[in-house]
Amino acid sequence: MEIQERILKLKKERGALLLSHFYEPAEIQDIADEVGDSLYLAQKGQSANHPVVLLAGVVFMAESVKILSPNKTVLVPDLNAGCSLVDSSPADQYRQWRMKHPEGICISYINCSAEVKAISDVICTSSNAEKIVNAIPKHRPILFGPDKNLGRYLSKKLNREMILWPGSCEVHVLFSSRKLFELKTNHPEALVLAHPECDETVLDYADVVGSTSLLLKTVEERPEKTFVVATETGIFHQMKKLRPDAELIQAPFQSSCACNDCPYMKLNSLEKIESALQTLTPEVQLPTQLMEKAKVSLDRMMALTQGQSVQWPESFSAPTVSI
Ligand code: 13P
Ligand code: SF4
Repeated sequence: MEIQERILKLKKERGALLLSHFYEPAEIQDIADEVGDSLYLAQKGQSANHPVVLLAGVVFMAESVKILSPNKTVLVPDLNAGCSLVDSSPADQYRQWRMKHPEGICISYINCSAEVKAISDVICTSSNAEKIVNAIPKHRPILFGPDKNLGRYLSKKLNREMILWPGSCEVHVLFSSRKLFELKTNHPEALVLAHPECDETVLDYADVVGSTSLLLKTVEERPEKTFVVATETGIFHQMKKLRPDAELIQAPFQSSCACNDCPYMKLNSLEKIESALQTLTPEVQLPTQLMEKAKVSLDRMMALTQGQSVQWPESFSAPTVSI
């Protein structure tokens, strides 16, 4: 039996839902029940009736599903699949920063640890970030972390001042705005697409800035035949499927490396997925009290995403969760 067939069989036996992010290797995307951006995966993981969710992505994505659905068994192919944004926002330092502005509302990008979620007022992803920022009362200062590039982009676009945490994505900051300008000059017919984790100088040259799902939708719907894409390489798999007629050009890097692979997303493999379904490990496990605290900010995100209103705390008081 081929590994794909074995995985499908195991998935059935375990009652497991297999979710994949767009940055995963193509063969993983192809056997997943759902492929999507981080918001979509969190929503699908939460609403699933399956007792087991296997999230092929990075660990913070699986943690979000676990926090939203603590009774499910949430598996990841590799617990080392981290994220540079998580690494650049240690919870103790984030808490100190948060405590300097107790009257502010802290929006944290979903690319952060459960501990950071527990000391945030609300979470956002790149697909709902504008909605979340617009929901913050105008008189309240906004703290935004850990991605300074997404924060700066939102601040400029929505004309809201923000106190930014200085984190960034190690993959998206490597695109070169100078080379992108040259490429754009040589391909005036091309539409430039960029993920908001890119540096501001790259975003300035982009025609469309948005989440992985928005970039895909743009490729699907726009009439242009050439697209320059400034995001992680995994997304090309779905883009090619949607627009086999289009020329898809990877945005250039500062060096000559092919560094558009997220090293964490690419830790996952079919072999690790098969093993996770066989052994029900590695499993995402978090302390109950921490999950309860972190769920507050994730629940607010889900409510605002659905157009519901939420209550904001008057000021920040550090939770007693040990982090
Ligand atoms: P999306 O939510 O747009 O899929 O982004 C997730 C991510 O990690 C981008 O680097
Ligand atoms: Fe994190 Fe960047 Fe990888 Fe996305 S691409 S998971 S932000 S390191």
